[in-house]
Order: sequence, then C-alpha cells, then structure tokens
Amino acid sequence: MKILVTGGAGFIGSHLCDLLIAKGEEVTVIDDLSTGSLENISHLNGNPRFHYCVNTILNTKVMDRLISECDCVVHLAAAVGVKYVLENPLSSIETNILGTETALKLANRYRKKILVASTSEVYGKHMHAPLKEDDNLIYGPPSTMRWSYAASKLVDEFTALAYHRTKKLDTVIIRCFNTIGPRQTGLYGMVVPRFIQQALRDDPITVYGDGKQTRTFTFIDDVVEAIYRLIKCEKGAGEVVNIGGTEEITIADLAHKIKELSGSNSEIVFIPYDKAYGKDFEDMMRRVPSVDKLKALIGFIPETPLDQILKNTIEYFRAKAS
Ligand SMILES: NC(=O)c1ccc[n+]([C@@H]2O[C@H](COP(=O)([O-])OP(=O)(O)OC[C@H]3O[C@@H](n4cnc5c(N)ncnc54)[C@H](O)[C@@H]3O)[C@@H](O)[C@H]2O)c1
Repeated sequence: MKILVTGGAGFIGSHLCDLLIAKGEEVTVIDDLSTGSLENISHLNGNPRFHYCVNTILNTKVMDRLISECDCVVHLAAAVGVKYVLENPLSSIETNILGTETALKLANRYRKKILVASTSEVYGKHMHAPLKEDDNLIYGPPSTMRWSYAASKLVDEFTALAYHRTKKLDTVIIRCFNTIGPRQTGLYGMVVPRFIQQALRDDPITVYGDGKQTRTFTFIDDVVEAIYRLIKCEKGAGEVVNIGGTEEITIADLAHKIKELSGSNSEIVFIPYDKAYGKDFEDMMRRVPSVDKLKALIGFIPETPLDQILKNTIEYFRAKAS
C-alpha cells in the first residue's frame, strides 16, 4: 500500500513512517519542517520504499500529485502545541483549516481514504471522565487564543465528516490525547519533554498553574500502532475515534515522578499561567479518554504504563544530551 503521511517529519509522523516501512508499506512524506525535522526521518533515507518532499500542504499542485499517487492519506501536518499556536495565531489557523481542506478536497478528487488528526483539545473545559467521542464540547471566548487550536481542529472534523456524509469519502478522525516518547520536542509547550530536559540539567522543573490539572499520557508506539490498524480497518469510515492512554496523573505528580525517575536534583517550582502564557490563557483541568470505540474498531488500546514510557523517554533525552 502507498501511504502519504503529511507532517511525516514530525514526532508522530516520523514514528508512523518507521512502523509503515517495517510493515512493508511504501511511504511518502510531505513536511515543511516548521516544527518537524529531517533528522527524524534521516535513518529512512535510501530505503527504496521511502520518499519525502519538503513543501507545504498549502501547495495545492504538489498535494494534488502526491495524493493522486497514493492509496491512503494520513493527515498529521498541523500547527501544534499551545505555545506555538499562541505565538503564531494566524498562520496556525491557516495551516489547520486551509491545509486540511486541501487534503480532503484532493482525497475526494482521487477517492482516497484519509485519516485526519484531531486532538483531545476539542473537548474543551470538561471536568468529567472519561471523555466520549459524542460528548458536548465546552470552549472559552475567542479572545482567549488557546481555543483557536481546538476550534480549528473542530472545523477539520466537521469538514471531514461533511465529505463523508455528502461524498461518501472514507474519512476517519483520530482524536489524539497527549502523546509522548522519543523525538518529541519541548520547544512548543509540550510538558513531558520540557520537564525531562529541565530535570536532566538539574534546572528548576516549572509547573504552570497549581499543578492540580490532570492529563493522561500515551506512548508513541501505541499511537502509531492504533493509526496503522485504523488505516487497515474497514469499519472506521465517518467515525471520530479517541486515541489515548487512561492512566491519569496531576501535572505536579508528573513533575515529581520525572524528577525521581531521572535521579534529578531539580527543585519543582510553580509558575502562574499568566507568567507562562500571558493574561488571556486558561487551562483544561482534566482530560481522560474513553477508549471503548477504539477497542471496538481495532481490538487494541494504548496500555504502556506511564513509568515505562517516562523511563524510555528519559533515556532518549539523556543519550541525546551526551
Ligand atoms: N503529540 C500530541 O500529543 C498530539 C496530541 C493531539 C493531537 N496531535 C496531532 O497530531 C498531529 C501530529 O502532531 P505531532 O505531535 O507529531 O507534532 P509535530 O509538530 O511534531 O508534527 C507536525 C508536523 O507537521 C509539519 N507541518 C506543519 N505545518 C505544515 C505545513 N503547512 N505543511 C507541511 N507540513 C507542516 C511540521 O513541520 C511537523 O513536522 C497534529 O495534527 C497534532 O494536532 C498531537
């Protein structure tokens, strides 16, 4: 099978490329390297089943050719990360809405299956758990720019569902929850790589807010396994599916755990949200997925324990730093 991975030089995309190549598939990547890097895919260079193109998904001509030549599109390219989106509000909306619209329009033109990456951010300010795919979504006002990421991904979901309903296009929406592992960068606001790098340098580990907000964390290998199974699954058309781990932890406890597992001498400090992100920021206090639908569709759910994921990721950053 020929699979086009948009955003394939990024964190999730590059791991997906590794899995697809290992499974014997042919892979093409399009990536503009805005947050991804060629280093993430350099080890695949020279493999006759691997090809990449440094370009933007907004380039319709290039996307037309790439989508016409593949059997399936996994659309991961996006402006990602709270910090990145707050710093680049306009281009982030353009990439996430126009880029996805381009991918869907062309997938429809050539009748190709397309998986569209969405995010747990679309759930907004829920306090209950677990979050199910048909739950209501609760957002703050548009003056709070953090919601633009969620809203832009929600428009992607509506567009993908509309293509499915009106054109019978095989679209699957994957709502990824916090995914972690090797190659993730801490540059754009991702909490785990940031904490690990601070811990390994014995710098203060900076928790934003009071640290009582909770998250679940999903190992990258589990996420790409789920994506691979969804590529092959014939029952997912027109579905929205959560992909996430279910082990819930507060961010303060996460900081302590990372300090302990990395043998760090860092102190843990709490920084008010307005100092970290400016005054118009509000956080989501809780985010735990229901994985019932994922399990029903592909017979697999992410289950790698958090300690094991963190140990693996700490080792990666330790080796990278030395
Ligand atoms: N990592 C997570 O925890 C997480 C959680 C929820 C959703 N997601 C979604 O998964 C997808 C992949 O995220 P990731 O964590 O691998 O982030 P990432 O930043 O590592 O990957 C995104 C990739 O898209 C590329 N890109 C951005 N704009 C582009 C454009 N205009 N043209 C071509 N390439 C472009 C970037 O260079 C990068 O390589 C995104 O759609 C993101 O919203 C990720």
